Amino acid sequence: MFANRVLSGMRPTGTLHLGHYHGVLRNWIKLQHEYECLFFVADWHAMTTHYDTPEVIEQYVWDMVIDWLAAGVDPAQAVLFIQSRVPEHAELHLLLSMVTPLGWLERVPTYKDQQEKLSDKDLSTYGFLGYPLLQSADILIYRANQVPVGEDQVPHVEFTREVARRFNHVFGREQGFEQKAETAIKKLGAKRSRLYRQLRTRFMEKGDAGALAAARALVEEAQNLPMGDRERLFGYIEGGGKVILAEPRALLTGASKMPGLDGQKMSKSYDNTLGLREDGESITRKIRQMPTDPARVKRSDPGDPAKCPVWQFHLVYSDEKRRQWVQQGCRSAGIGCLECKQPVIEAVLEEQKPMRERAGKYLEDPTLVRSIIADGCEKARKLAQDTLREVRAAMGLDYS
Ligand code: TRP
Ligand code: SF4
Repeated sequence: MFANRVLSGMRPTGTLHLGHYHGVLRNWIKLQHEYECLFFVADWHAMTTHYDTPEVIEQYVWDMVIDWLAAGVDPAQAVLFIQSRVPEHAELHLLLSMVTPLGWLERVPTYKDQQEKLSDKDLSTYGFLGYPLLQSADILIYRANQVPVGEDQVPHVEFTREVARRFNHVFGREQGFEQKAETAIKKLGAKRSRLYRQLRTRFMEKGDAGALAAARALVEEAQNLPMGDRERLFGYIEGGGKVILAEPRALLTGASKMPGLDGQKMSKSYDNTLGLREDGESITRKIRQMPTDPARVKRSDPGDPAKCPVWQFHLVYSDEKRRQWVQQGCRSAGIGCLECKQPVIEAVLEEQKPMRERAGKYLEDPTLVRSIIADGCEKARKLAQDTLREVRAAMGLDYS
Protein backbone atom coordinates (compact mmCIF):
# COMPACT_ATOMS: atom_id res chain seq x y z
CA MET A 1 0.00 0.00 0.00
CA PHE A 2 2.80 2.42 0.84
CA ALA A 3 6.08 2.82 -0.96
CA ASN A 4 9.27 1.71 0.70
CA ARG A 5 10.41 5.18 1.48
CA VAL A 6 13.27 6.39 3.65
CA LEU A 7 13.23 9.77 5.35
CA SER A 8 15.70 11.42 7.66
CA GLY A 9 16.57 14.89 8.83
CA MET A 10 19.44 16.67 10.49
CA ARG A 11 19.42 19.87 12.48
CA PRO A 12 21.70 22.58 11.09
CA THR A 13 23.81 23.47 14.10
CA GLY A 14 27.22 24.03 12.48
CA THR A 15 29.55 22.33 10.01
CA LEU A 16 29.68 18.56 10.12
CA HIS A 17 32.58 16.41 11.28
CA LEU A 18 33.88 12.94 10.50
CA GLY A 19 31.72 11.52 13.31
CA HIS A 20 28.65 12.58 11.29
CA TYR A 21 30.21 11.05 8.20
CA HIS A 22 30.93 7.64 9.73
CA GLY A 23 27.84 7.61 11.94
CA VAL A 24 25.13 8.93 9.61
CA LEU A 25 26.11 10.10 6.15
CA ARG A 26 27.77 6.89 5.03
CA ASN A 27 24.55 5.14 5.84
CA TRP A 28 22.48 7.67 3.88
CA ILE A 29 24.80 7.23 0.92
CA LYS A 30 24.26 3.48 1.00
CA LEU A 31 20.48 3.82 1.41
CA GLN A 32 20.12 6.24 -1.49
CA HIS A 33 21.00 3.41 -3.89
CA GLU A 34 18.55 0.98 -2.29
CA TYR A 35 15.42 3.01 -1.59
CA GLU A 36 13.55 6.14 -2.46
CA CYS A 37 15.20 8.57 -0.07
CA LEU A 38 14.27 11.98 1.27
CA PHE A 39 16.81 13.90 3.35
CA PHE A 40 16.05 17.29 4.79
CA VAL A 41 17.48 20.14 6.80
CA ALA A 42 15.44 20.35 10.01
CA ASP A 43 15.75 24.11 10.44
CA TRP A 44 12.56 24.45 12.47
CA HIS A 45 13.86 21.80 14.84
CA ALA A 46 17.08 23.79 15.19
CA MET A 47 14.94 26.81 16.09
CA THR A 48 13.33 24.99 19.03
CA THR A 49 16.64 25.18 20.91
CA HIS A 50 18.60 27.84 18.97
CA TYR A 51 15.89 30.46 18.57
CA ASP A 52 18.26 33.04 20.06
CA THR A 53 20.76 32.96 17.18
CA PRO A 54 18.75 33.67 14.04
CA GLU A 55 21.76 35.35 12.44
CA VAL A 56 23.64 32.06 11.93
CA ILE A 57 20.93 29.69 10.78
CA GLU A 58 21.15 30.49 7.09
CA GLN A 59 24.90 29.89 6.96
CA TYR A 60 24.50 26.64 8.88
CA VAL A 61 21.82 25.44 6.48
CA TRP A 62 23.94 25.92 3.36
CA ASP A 63 27.09 24.62 5.01
CA MET A 64 25.31 21.46 5.96
CA VAL A 65 23.88 20.88 2.51
CA ILE A 66 27.36 21.33 1.05
CA ASP A 67 28.70 18.85 3.62
CA TRP A 68 26.09 16.30 2.54
CA LEU A 69 26.94 16.77 -1.12
CA ALA A 70 30.65 16.67 -0.34
CA ALA A 71 30.22 13.40 1.54
CA GLY A 72 28.55 11.85 -1.49
CA VAL A 73 24.84 12.30 -0.93
CA ASP A 74 23.67 12.38 -4.54
CA PRO A 75 20.87 14.73 -5.59
CA ALA A 76 20.20 12.48 -8.58
CA GLN A 77 19.39 9.63 -6.17
CA ALA A 78 17.85 11.34 -3.16
CA VAL A 79 15.51 14.28 -2.67
CA LEU A 80 17.22 17.01 -0.63
CA PHE A 81 15.14 19.78 0.86
CA ILE A 82 14.66 22.25 3.68
CA GLN A 83 11.87 21.68 6.19
CA SER A 84 10.72 25.30 6.42
CA ARG A 85 10.38 25.49 2.63
CA VAL A 86 7.69 22.79 2.81
CA PRO A 87 5.10 24.49 5.03
CA GLU A 88 2.85 21.42 4.81
CA HIS A 89 4.91 19.98 7.67
CA ALA A 90 3.61 22.78 9.86
CA GLU A 91 -0.01 22.22 8.90
CA LEU A 92 0.21 18.52 9.60
CA HIS A 93 1.92 19.28 12.91
CA LEU A 94 -1.00 21.50 13.85
CA LEU A 95 -3.61 18.96 12.79
CA LEU A 96 -1.87 16.13 14.66
CA SER A 97 -1.73 18.31 17.75
CA MET A 98 -5.54 18.12 17.96
CA VAL A 99 -5.39 14.44 18.93
CA THR A 100 -2.03 14.22 20.69
CA PRO A 101 -2.37 13.93 24.46
CA LEU A 102 -0.15 16.35 26.34
CA GLY A 103 1.02 13.50 28.58
CA TRP A 104 2.53 11.69 25.61
CA LEU A 105 4.75 14.68 24.86
CA GLU A 106 5.73 15.25 28.47
CA ARG A 107 6.73 11.63 28.78
CA VAL A 108 9.12 11.57 25.79
CA PRO A 109 12.49 10.98 27.48
CA THR A 110 14.40 13.63 25.49
CA TYR A 111 12.07 16.33 26.80
CA LYS A 112 13.26 16.45 30.42
CA ASP A 113 16.78 15.24 29.49
CA GLN A 114 17.45 18.07 27.09
CA GLN A 115 15.86 20.65 29.34
CA GLU A 116 18.30 19.65 32.07
CA LYS A 117 21.28 19.35 29.74
CA LEU A 118 20.70 22.73 28.12
CA SER A 119 19.82 24.38 31.40
CA ASP A 120 21.32 27.72 30.34
CA LYS A 121 18.39 28.08 27.92
CA ASP A 122 14.73 28.55 28.60
CA LEU A 123 13.23 25.46 27.01
CA SER A 124 9.89 25.64 28.76
CA THR A 125 8.38 26.65 25.43
CA TYR A 126 5.45 25.29 23.48
CA GLY A 127 7.76 24.73 20.49
CA PHE A 128 10.22 22.63 22.44
CA LEU A 129 7.50 20.49 23.99
CA GLY A 130 6.18 19.91 20.48
CA TYR A 131 9.57 18.89 19.07
CA PRO A 132 8.68 15.19 18.78
CA LEU A 133 5.31 15.96 17.21
CA LEU A 134 6.91 18.17 14.58
CA GLN A 135 9.23 15.26 13.89
CA SER A 136 6.18 13.00 13.56
CA ALA A 137 4.72 15.38 11.02
CA ASP A 138 8.04 15.30 9.09
CA ILE A 139 7.84 11.54 8.89
CA LEU A 140 4.12 10.97 8.45
CA ILE A 141 3.64 13.56 5.74
CA TYR A 142 5.77 11.43 3.41
CA ARG A 143 4.30 8.15 4.66
CA ALA A 144 7.91 7.14 5.12
CA ASN A 145 8.20 3.69 6.60
CA GLN A 146 11.92 3.67 7.33
CA VAL A 147 13.61 6.32 9.38
CA PRO A 148 17.38 6.00 9.79
CA VAL A 149 18.27 7.49 13.16
CA GLY A 150 20.66 7.05 16.06
CA GLU A 151 19.72 5.36 19.32
CA ASP A 152 18.72 8.66 20.95
CA GLN A 153 15.98 9.25 18.37
CA VAL A 154 14.24 5.89 18.72
CA PRO A 155 11.71 7.22 21.26
CA HIS A 156 10.69 9.85 18.71
CA VAL A 157 9.98 7.22 16.08
CA GLU A 158 8.06 5.14 18.62
CA PHE A 159 6.08 8.24 19.55
CA THR A 160 5.36 8.80 15.85
CA ARG A 161 3.96 5.28 15.57
CA GLU A 162 1.58 6.00 18.41
CA VAL A 163 0.50 9.29 16.89
CA ALA A 164 -0.17 7.60 13.53
CA ARG A 165 -2.12 4.83 15.20
CA ARG A 166 -4.22 7.29 17.14
CA PHE A 167 -4.86 9.44 14.09
CA ASN A 168 -5.94 6.43 12.06
CA HIS A 169 -8.15 5.34 14.91
CA VAL A 170 -9.90 8.66 15.26
CA PHE A 171 -10.20 9.63 11.60
CA GLY A 172 -9.88 6.42 9.57
CA ARG A 173 -12.94 4.50 10.49
CA GLU A 174 -15.42 3.04 8.01
CA GLN A 175 -18.95 4.42 8.15
CA GLY A 176 -20.46 3.09 11.35
CA PHE A 177 -17.33 1.08 12.11
CA GLU A 178 -17.36 1.66 15.82
CA GLN A 179 -20.99 0.60 16.17
CA LYS A 180 -20.37 -2.56 14.19
CA ALA A 181 -17.27 -3.37 16.20
CA GLU A 182 -19.12 -2.82 19.47
CA THR A 183 -21.89 -5.17 18.34
CA ALA A 184 -19.25 -7.74 17.40
CA ILE A 185 -17.64 -7.54 20.84
CA LYS A 186 -20.93 -8.57 22.43
CA LYS A 187 -20.96 -11.71 20.30
CA LEU A 188 -17.80 -12.85 22.11
CA GLY A 189 -19.77 -13.63 25.25
CA ALA A 190 -19.67 -11.79 28.57
CA LYS A 191 -16.31 -12.99 29.83
CA ARG A 192 -14.39 -12.65 26.59
CA SER A 193 -15.98 -9.28 25.85
CA ARG A 194 -14.74 -7.92 29.11
CA LEU A 195 -11.25 -9.29 28.55
CA TYR A 196 -11.18 -7.95 24.99
CA ARG A 197 -12.08 -4.47 26.19
CA GLN A 198 -9.44 -4.55 28.90
CA LEU A 199 -6.70 -5.67 26.54
CA ARG A 200 -7.74 -3.12 23.94
CA THR A 201 -7.60 -0.30 26.48
CA ARG A 202 -4.19 -1.43 27.63
CA PHE A 203 -2.91 -1.41 24.09
CA MET A 204 -4.54 1.84 23.03
CA GLU A 205 -3.43 3.78 26.08
CA LYS A 206 -0.06 2.29 26.82
CA GLY A 207 0.97 0.70 23.52
CA ASP A 208 1.41 -2.59 25.41
CA ALA A 209 2.48 -5.09 22.72
CA GLY A 210 1.64 -8.05 24.95
CA ALA A 211 -1.94 -6.85 25.25
CA LEU A 212 -2.17 -6.52 21.47
CA ALA A 213 -0.98 -10.10 20.98
CA ALA A 214 -3.32 -11.42 23.66
CA ALA A 215 -6.31 -9.60 22.18
CA ARG A 216 -5.51 -10.96 18.74
CA ALA A 217 -5.24 -14.49 20.11
CA LEU A 218 -8.58 -14.04 21.83
CA VAL A 219 -10.26 -13.06 18.55
CA GLU A 220 -8.48 -15.91 16.77
CA GLU A 221 -9.91 -18.45 19.21
CA ALA A 222 -13.44 -17.10 19.20
CA GLN A 223 -15.80 -19.58 17.48
CA ASN A 224 -18.94 -18.85 15.51
CA LEU A 225 -18.08 -15.26 14.66
CA PRO A 226 -19.37 -14.00 11.32
CA MET A 227 -16.46 -13.30 8.99
CA GLY A 228 -16.73 -9.51 8.89
CA ASP A 229 -16.85 -9.31 12.66
CA ARG A 230 -13.56 -11.10 13.07
CA GLU A 231 -11.86 -8.51 10.82
CA ARG A 232 -13.57 -5.70 12.69
CA LEU A 233 -12.42 -7.00 16.03
CA PHE A 234 -8.85 -7.32 14.79
CA GLY A 235 -8.92 -3.81 13.42
CA TYR A 236 -10.68 -2.38 16.42
CA ILE A 237 -7.87 -3.36 18.80
CA GLU A 238 -5.61 -0.89 17.03
CA GLY A 239 -8.26 1.57 16.03
CA GLY A 240 -9.07 -0.18 12.77
CA GLY A 241 -10.57 1.23 9.65
CA LYS A 242 -8.60 2.89 6.94
CA VAL A 243 -4.90 3.53 7.45
CA ILE A 244 -4.32 7.14 6.45
CA LEU A 245 -0.90 7.59 7.99
CA ALA A 246 1.63 4.78 7.80
CA GLU A 247 3.48 3.69 10.91
CA PRO A 248 7.22 4.16 10.44
CA ARG A 249 10.04 1.97 11.67
CA ALA A 250 13.36 3.19 13.05
CA LEU A 251 16.32 2.01 11.02
CA LEU A 252 19.08 1.98 13.59
CA THR A 253 22.29 3.37 12.19
CA GLY A 254 24.30 2.14 15.17
CA ALA A 255 26.81 4.20 17.06
CA SER A 256 29.51 5.91 15.06
CA LYS A 257 32.63 3.83 14.86
CA MET A 258 34.53 7.08 14.78
CA PRO A 259 35.52 8.39 18.22
CA GLY A 260 36.80 11.88 18.88
CA LEU A 261 40.45 12.92 19.19
CA ASP A 262 40.37 12.22 22.93
CA GLY A 263 38.64 8.86 22.65
CA GLN A 264 35.23 10.16 23.78
CA LYS A 265 32.32 10.41 21.35
CA MET A 266 33.19 12.90 18.60
CA SER A 267 31.17 16.00 19.34
CA LYS A 268 31.44 19.73 18.88
CA SER A 269 30.70 20.25 22.57
CA TYR A 270 33.77 18.17 23.55
CA ASP A 271 35.99 20.09 21.15
CA ASN A 272 37.45 16.82 19.84
CA THR A 273 36.36 16.83 16.20
CA LEU A 274 37.90 16.58 12.78
CA GLY A 275 35.81 18.58 10.35
CA LEU A 276 34.52 16.95 7.20
CA ARG A 277 36.20 19.63 5.11
CA GLU A 278 38.80 20.85 7.61
CA ASP A 279 42.06 21.75 5.90
CA GLY A 280 44.91 19.27 5.76
CA GLU A 281 47.34 21.21 7.90
CA SER A 282 44.90 21.49 10.72
CA ILE A 283 43.98 17.79 10.49
CA THR A 284 47.67 16.84 10.59
CA ARG A 285 48.36 19.04 13.59
CA LYS A 286 45.35 17.77 15.52
CA ILE A 287 46.19 14.11 14.99
CA ARG A 288 49.85 14.66 15.84
CA GLN A 289 48.72 16.23 19.11
CA MET A 290 46.32 13.42 19.98
CA PRO A 291 46.85 11.90 23.40
CA THR A 292 48.20 8.32 23.41
CA ASP A 293 48.60 5.60 26.01
CA PRO A 294 49.80 7.59 29.04
CA ALA A 295 52.19 4.73 29.89
CA ARG A 296 54.33 5.70 26.89
CA VAL A 297 56.15 8.59 28.42
CA LYS A 298 59.42 7.93 26.62
CA ARG A 299 59.84 6.49 23.15
CA SER A 300 61.35 3.36 24.73
CA ASP A 301 58.32 2.70 26.97
CA PRO A 302 56.05 -0.03 25.62
CA GLY A 303 52.34 0.75 25.35
CA ASP A 304 48.92 -0.83 25.01
CA PRO A 305 46.76 0.14 22.02
CA ALA A 306 43.65 -0.66 24.03
CA LYS A 307 44.42 2.39 26.16
CA CYS A 308 45.04 4.70 23.21
CA PRO A 309 42.52 6.69 21.14
CA VAL A 310 44.80 6.44 18.10
CA TRP A 311 44.11 2.72 18.03
CA GLN A 312 40.40 3.49 17.63
CA PHE A 313 41.30 5.39 14.50
CA HIS A 314 43.28 2.45 13.20
CA LEU A 315 40.18 0.33 13.66
CA VAL A 316 38.36 2.72 11.32
CA TYR A 317 41.14 3.29 8.80
CA SER A 318 43.62 0.40 8.83
CA ASP A 319 43.56 -3.09 7.36
CA GLU A 320 44.53 -6.19 9.30
CA LYS A 321 48.19 -5.97 8.34
CA ARG A 322 48.63 -2.45 9.56
CA ARG A 323 46.72 -3.17 12.74
CA GLN A 324 49.21 -5.92 13.50
CA TRP A 325 52.04 -3.53 12.82
CA VAL A 326 50.52 -1.20 15.42
CA GLN A 327 49.90 -3.93 17.98
CA GLN A 328 53.40 -5.34 17.76
CA GLY A 329 55.19 -2.03 17.38
CA CYS A 330 53.35 -0.44 20.30
CA ARG A 331 53.72 -3.33 22.75
CA SER A 332 57.42 -3.76 21.97
CA ALA A 333 58.18 -0.03 21.73
CA GLY A 334 59.29 -0.85 18.19
CA ILE A 335 57.47 2.18 16.75
CA GLY A 336 57.01 5.69 18.06
CA CYS A 337 53.61 7.32 18.46
CA LEU A 338 54.17 9.85 15.68
CA GLU A 339 55.14 6.99 13.40
CA CYS A 340 51.95 5.20 14.41
CA LYS A 341 49.84 8.27 13.70
CA GLN A 342 51.25 8.95 10.26
CA PRO A 343 49.17 6.35 8.35
CA VAL A 344 46.05 7.62 10.14
CA ILE A 345 46.78 11.16 9.01
CA GLU A 346 47.23 9.95 5.46
CA ALA A 347 44.04 7.91 5.55
CA VAL A 348 41.97 10.84 6.80
CA LEU A 349 43.41 13.15 4.15
CA GLU A 350 42.73 10.51 1.51
CA GLU A 351 39.14 10.14 2.71
CA GLN A 352 38.65 13.90 2.59
CA LYS A 353 40.11 14.32 -0.89
CA PRO A 354 36.98 13.53 -2.93
CA MET A 355 34.90 15.45 -0.40
CA ARG A 356 37.01 18.53 -0.76
CA GLU A 357 36.79 18.27 -4.53
CA ARG A 358 33.03 17.94 -4.57
CA ALA A 359 32.63 20.76 -2.07
CA GLY A 360 34.89 22.98 -4.18
CA LYS A 361 32.47 22.79 -7.05
CA TYR A 362 29.56 23.90 -4.90
CA LEU A 363 31.48 26.60 -3.08
CA GLU A 364 32.55 28.07 -6.38
CA ASP A 365 29.02 28.16 -7.69
CA PRO A 366 26.43 28.51 -4.92
CA THR A 367 23.61 28.58 -7.46
CA LEU A 368 24.17 24.85 -7.95
CA VAL A 369 23.24 24.18 -4.33
CA ARG A 370 20.29 26.55 -4.50
CA SER A 371 18.89 24.78 -7.52
CA ILE A 372 19.36 21.30 -6.02
CA ILE A 373 17.40 22.43 -2.99
CA ALA A 374 14.74 24.24 -5.01
CA ASP A 375 14.22 21.09 -7.02
CA GLY A 376 14.09 18.92 -3.89
CA CYS A 377 11.62 21.22 -2.15
CA GLU A 378 9.32 21.10 -5.14
CA LYS A 379 9.36 17.30 -5.23
CA ALA A 380 8.88 17.03 -1.47
CA ARG A 381 6.00 19.48 -1.55
CA LYS A 382 4.09 17.46 -4.12
CA LEU A 383 4.32 14.35 -1.94
CA ALA A 384 3.43 16.32 1.18
CA GLN A 385 0.41 17.92 -0.48
CA ASP A 386 -0.96 14.52 -1.48
CA THR A 387 -0.93 13.31 2.10
CA LEU A 388 -2.28 16.53 3.46
CA ARG A 389 -5.21 16.43 1.05
CA GLU A 390 -6.22 13.04 2.47
CA VAL A 391 -5.66 14.17 6.03
CA ARG A 392 -7.85 17.23 5.54
CA ALA A 393 -10.57 15.10 3.96
CA ALA A 394 -10.45 12.56 6.79
CA MET A 395 -10.82 15.38 9.31
CA GLY A 396 -13.73 16.91 7.44
CA LEU A 397 -11.73 19.96 6.42
CA ASP A 398 -11.95 19.54 2.66
CA TYR A 399 -14.51 22.25 1.99
CA SER A 400 -13.50 24.95 -0.41
N1 TRP B 1 15.42 15.10 15.79
C1 TRP B 1 16.38 14.66 14.80
C2 TRP B 1 17.79 14.79 15.39
O1 TRP B 1 18.02 15.59 16.26
C3 TRP B 1 16.28 15.44 13.52
C4 TRP B 1 14.98 15.21 12.83
C5 TRP B 1 13.94 16.09 12.72
C6 TRP B 1 14.57 14.02 12.19
N2 TRP B 1 12.91 15.55 12.01
C7 TRP B 1 13.26 14.26 11.69
C8 TRP B 1 15.16 12.77 11.99
C9 TRP B 1 12.54 13.28 11.01
C10 TRP B 1 14.44 11.79 11.34
C11 TRP B 1 13.15 12.04 10.83
O2 TRP B 1 18.68 14.08 14.94
FE1 SF4 C 1 48.88 4.70 20.64
FE2 SF4 C 1 50.18 3.97 18.47
FE3 SF4 C 1 51.45 5.23 20.47
FE4 SF4 C 1 50.63 2.75 20.79
S1 SF4 C 1 52.15 3.44 19.33
S2 SF4 C 1 50.35 4.43 22.24
S3 SF4 C 1 48.72 2.73 19.62
S4 SF4 C 1 49.82 6.04 19.16
